[in-house]
Amino acid sequence: MDLLLLEKTLIGLFFAIIVAIVVSKLRSKNFKLPPGPIPVPVFGNWLQVGDDLNHRNLTEYAKKFGDMFLLRMGQRNLVVVSSPELAKEVLHTQGVEFGSRTRNVVFDIFTGKGQDMVFTVYGEHWRKMRRIMTVPFFTNKVVQQYRRGWEDEVAHVVEDVKKNPESATNGIVLRKRLQLMMYNNMYRIMFDRRFESEDDPLFNKLKALNGERSRLAQSFEYNYGDFIPILRPFLRGYLNICKEIKQRRLQLFKDYFVDERKKLANTTKSMDNNSLKCAIDHILEAEQKGEINEDNVLYIVENINVAAIETTLWSIEWGIAELVNHPEIQKKLRDEIDSVLGVGVQITEPELNKLPYLQAVIKETLRLRMAIPLLVPHMNLHDAKLAGYDIPAESKILVNAWWLANNPATWKKPEEFRPERFFEEEKHVEANGNDFRYLPFGVGRRSCPGIILALPILGITLGRLVQNFELLPPPGQSKLDTTEKGGQFSLHILKHSTIVMKPRSF
Ligand code: HEM
Repeated sequence: MDLLLLEKTLIGLFFAIIVAIVVSKLRSKNFKLPPGPIPVPVFGNWLQVGDDLNHRNLTEYAKKFGDMFLLRMGQRNLVVVSSPELAKEVLHTQGVEFGSRTRNVVFDIFTGKGQDMVFTVYGEHWRKMRRIMTVPFFTNKVVQQYRRGWEDEVAHVVEDVKKNPESATNGIVLRKRLQLMMYNNMYRIMFDRRFESEDDPLFNKLKALNGERSRLAQSFEYNYGDFIPILRPFLRGYLNICKEIKQRRLQLFKDYFVDERKKLANTTKSMDNNSLKCAIDHILEAEQKGEINEDNVLYIVENINVAAIETTLWSIEWGIAELVNHPEIQKKLRDEIDSVLGVGVQITEPELNKLPYLQAVIKETLRLRMAIPLLVPHMNLHDAKLAGYDIPAESKILVNAWWLANNPATWKKPEEFRPERFFEEEKHVEANGNDFRYLPFGVGRRSCPGIILALPILGITLGRLVQNFELLPPPGQSKLDTTEKGGQFSLHILKHSTIVMKPRSF
C-alpha cells in the first residue's frame, strides 16, 4: 500500500474523529433525532449493524426501536419507516420534501450524476424526464400497441418448452428462457427489436453488462468509501471498473440500438405515421427539439434496462415457485382460465380483467415476495420533520414496504400464500397504492410508472404457463426451495428453480 496515502489517511481519520465528535455534540443540541442504536464517532452504527440491511433485518430493528428509527452509517443518516401512517407521510403528504433519491459515488458514475430519471433528485430535470418518458412507455396506448408482442413472446416460450423433452421429465430452469422473453418484451417497446434465441451474441453481451452494472451498484464492497469519505481514495480501483462498465454499456446502447434506429428513421418516411413509432423515436424527437441531450437519451435506455426487466422477471419467478408449491392454487387458477376462456383458448391481454383469481395470485405474489421490498431509497434535500422528529438534510429514507404488507398486526396470517385474501378481508386492496399497507410499486410522485406494463405482462405470462402446463417440482422433490436472496435492493429467489412442465393435451 502507498505509505504516504496511509499516513495521510490516518491523520485525516484522526481529525475526522475530532470533527465528528464536535459536530455530533453541536447537532444533538439542535436536533431531536429519531430513536436508534447509540452511534460511535466516525463509524456511527455501521460496525454494530453491518452491511446487510435487508427487509427482515430492518424489521427486527423496527420491533426494537419503533416505526421510525435512525441508523448512522458512518457520515450518512439512514431513516427507516415501518408503518402505513409514516409511509403515507413520506410518500404522499410530504412527497415533495422526501421525493429525491440518495446519491453516492458509484450511482453518480452509472447515472452521470443524476442525468437519468430513476435516481435523480426531485425537481425540474426529473419532471421533464418523467414527462418525456410517459407517452412512449407508460400509457394504456403502449399496452395496446405491444400486448400482441408480449402474447407472441410467451407463445414462443410455450413452444420452446414443449420442444424440449427434458422439460416434462427432469425439468428445466425456466427462468433462463423467461429472461429472454422479458428482454424481448422491453426491447420491442424501446427499439422494435427482439433477440432470436438465448445464444444471440448481442443479447448475451447486453445481459452480461447489465448484470455487471447491477452487481457493482448493489455491492457492499464500496460502503466504506461511501460512509467514510476520508477513505474514498481507496475506492479508486473499484470506481475505475464502474466507469469502464458504464462506458461500454452506454456505447453498446448507442452503437447497436439508438444509432441503428436513427439510421432507419432517416431512410424511411414511415416515421411520420404515429402508430409505427417505438419508444426511442419519441425520445429522439425530444432530443431534436432540444428538450434533452444525447446523454439523457442513453440514460433513459439505461433506466429501462435496470428498472423494467429483472423486477418483472423476479416477480414471474416467485409467482411460478408459489404455484408449484401450492398445487391446489395452481389448479384453481387453471380451472378459472378454462371455464372463462374455454379449454385451450390462449389468454390475451383483454381477457385479464375477466380473471379475478389470476389477479389475486399476482397480488399475493407481489405481497409476500415483494421484488423491491424497501422501495427505491428516497431522500430529503433539506432538513425536514417527520412525526415530531428532525430528519437532517440528505438522509436516506427507506420505507419497509415488505413489512407493511407482512405485519401480522395488520394482515391475517401474512406468512401464508393465500390469494383468497384479496376476495375476502382485503377485497378493496389494489396494487396501485390505494392502501398504505400494500405498496409493491410505491405510491405518489416517485411511484413506479411501469405498473401499467408490469401487471399485464405478469398476467399474460403466468396465465399462459398455467393453462398450457402442469407445473411441478423436479423428481424426488416435494417442494421448490424458496429461500430468499437480497432484500436491500431487490428480493429474489436464492436458487433458480428447476421446474417440470407437463404439457396439457387439449
Ligand atoms: C413487477 C415489476 C415491477 C415492480 C415490483 C416495480 C417496483 C418499483 C418500485 C417499488 C419503485 C420505487 C417506488 C418508490 O421509490 O417510491 C419503482 C420505480 C420505478 N419503476 Fe418499477 N417496478 C416494476 C416494473 C417496472 C417496469 C416494467 C418499468 C418500466 C417499463 C418500471 C419503471 C420504473 C421507473 C422508471 C421507476 C422510477 C420512478 C421515479 O423515480 O420517478 N418498473 N418500481
